[in-house]
Amino acid sequence: MPALSQGQTGGHDGNRSVAMGEANELSAAIEHVLLDEAAISGRVRELARSISADYAHIRHSDERLVLVGVLKGAFVFLADLARHLSIPHHVDFIALSSYNASATASEVRLIMDSRINVAGHHVLIVEDIVDTGHTLDYLLRTFQARHPRSLKSCVFLSKPDRREVEVKIDYLGFKIPDVWVVGYGLDFADRYRTLPYIGALRREIYEA
Ligand code: IMP
Ligand code: MG
Repeated sequence: MPALSQGQTGGHDGNRSVAMGEANELSAAIEHVLLDEAAISGRVRELARSISADYAHIRHSDERLVLVGVLKGAFVFLADLARHLSIPHHVDFIALSSYNASATASEVRLIMDSRINVAGHHVLIVEDIVDTGHTLDYLLRTFQARHPRSLKSCVFLSKPDRREVEVKIDYLGFKIPDVWVVGYGLDFADRYRTLPYIGALRREIYEA
């Protein structure tokens, strides 16, 4: 392996201060932290333990566990969850679009489908947050129609006060109050996803 060239090390400090500047700018938009990194990782391990126990009976390759992550919001949660599972599983993704970029949608559209044919397999939908419930309701109906052997949902956050349709959440990380949260994959207008904690966004940002 060649040693790092002067050029690669030379830009390092400059890159770091750019990155820190951006991190500061992102965290300045946070009103308060709801869930810190320790709380998140502890809970994700607990969820992974429950899921590993519940699906431990799957032994045959003709009967698989497929985690279906909902892009983009669930990518961080899914990455952590999957790495803590102690059972064999497959990872797949779907992408949805709502008609309003940042607000909650009651009209959901599939813009990228999963690749795995889930018929006869165990599907676990992995979602970042359930708000009104319309998105998860759409997903459960869509996947049920594909004849999985079983269908469950694993959701990192839920805002029960906002529910418009009742949806079944089989594994839930945390219940939170009705505030707009970002970080750990969750965004506002595609920003703040890489914050390592869940924070409440300042109202003046999302009500502007
Ligand atoms: P629902 O269809 O109203 O349940 O909304 C689910 C989707 O709305 C989630 O998958 C998120 O994309 C988005 N969403 C709802 N609340 C929040 C939030 O507080 N932060 C970030 N995204 C949210
Ligand atoms: Mg989402």
